[in-house]
Amino acid sequence: MQKVNLDSAFDSFEEQWSPRLAAELNEQAVKLAKLEGEFVWHHHDDADELFLVREGRLRVEFRDEETDEDAAPSDDVTLEEGEMLVVPAGVEHRPVAEWGEAEVLLFEPTETKNTGNVESEETEDELERV
Ligand code: NI
Repeated sequence: MQKVNLDSAFDSFEEQWSPRLAAELNEQAVKLAKLEGEFVWHHHDDADELFLVREGRLRVEFRDEETDEDAAPSDDVTLEEGEMLVVPAGVEHRPVAEWGEAEVLLFEPTETKNTGNVESEETEDELERV
């Protein structure tokens, strides 16, 4: 049995937008990420994605991919420390941390890519373990 200390786990890396693998269960994973600035717009075809903000603040923006227009600001969700949100599969989204770095816990299938349907510089194929 091996416990995970979130303080130590978040202290063990500095790279932003590069999720680390903290635990796996039932083909799902708890991933830890440090986010700052804007990420790429993307969606996950087959996976719901949970964001839990541990430190800082994160806005999750939504838009209709068909129209390619940014959603109205009221459709965005801002997560404060201790708040979480599930983004359903197929929903186009973009995480934005514009108030400094946010520490975020993600829960989703292990193989889910951070950039979803988009292949970009930020795409991480193999996650390092913390
Ligand atoms: Ni996503």
